[in-house]
Amino acid sequence: MRKFIVAGNWKMNTTPKSGKQLVKDVLKKTKPENVKVIFGPPFTHLLQTQKQLKGHKGFFAAAQNMHQEDRGAYTGEISVEMLEDIGAKFVIIGHSERRLYFKETNALLLAKTKKAILHNRKVIFCCGEPLAVREKGTHFQYVMRQLSATIFKLSPEEFKQVIIAYEPIWAIGTGRTASPEQAQDMHFAIRAAIKKKMNEDLASGTSILYGGSVKPSNALEIFKQPDVDGGLVGGASLHADDFVAIIEAAKKTDRGR
Ligand code: 13P
Repeated sequence: MRKFIVAGNWKMNTTPKSGKQLVKDVLKKTKPENVKVIFGPPFTHLLQTQKQLKGHKGFFAAAQNMHQEDRGAYTGEISVEMLEDIGAKFVIIGHSERRLYFKETNALLLAKTKKAILHNRKVIFCCGEPLAVREKGTHFQYVMRQLSATIFKLSPEEFKQVIIAYEPIWAIGTGRTASPEQAQDMHFAIRAAIKKKMNEDLASGTSILYGGSVKPSNALEIFKQPDVDGGLVGGASLHADDFVAIIEAAKKTDRGR
């Protein structure tokens, strides 16, 4: 059965000092129980976070990005071996901010995903449409195209390492959340596509997270949707109380394993 996951994407926020405090506060206030909880700090404190989580069952750390090559003259980049060495099990790939600001293409995202999986990392792969596409009503086709050009090119064996995050761009950092029905409809469509492109086991076993202005006040309604298996949380993951409240909402759904 698929895992229920609450992941925090800190983006370019926190310092090693404030990040340490944030993790400490969350660890003090909750136990993940049936939910997997993932922290996604910047690289400067990923190792520190990893160390803080030692011995805390159900908590994990994720990188926010990685390079597709093994090593070499790529100033400023981080390789999968570096993530492996510090024990960071998860990596976020394909976030809309990476696609938009750093011009990451589907081909590049596929290369990064394959490299991460080759090194036994779990990939939180993001997809989602911009506002204009949603308003035109072609959001299903748009997301399917993103997935067809990337993770649907993986082998079923590789695909086992993938967690999908549906993050409609118009809902990211805007305070405007997709309604629980809008999230469910897209997640259902994604799951149906996994069944068609991969197989039934992967369709039912793949966690599909929702991201975009998830907060304590809306988390439970979204998480209750049958095809929503947790959240990828930005802003609210930077406040221990909010992040803990979202984890508690996830626990209430009682669908985690
Ligand atoms: P917000 O929760 O701040 O809208 O960000 C969502 C997101 O982009 C997580 O990756």
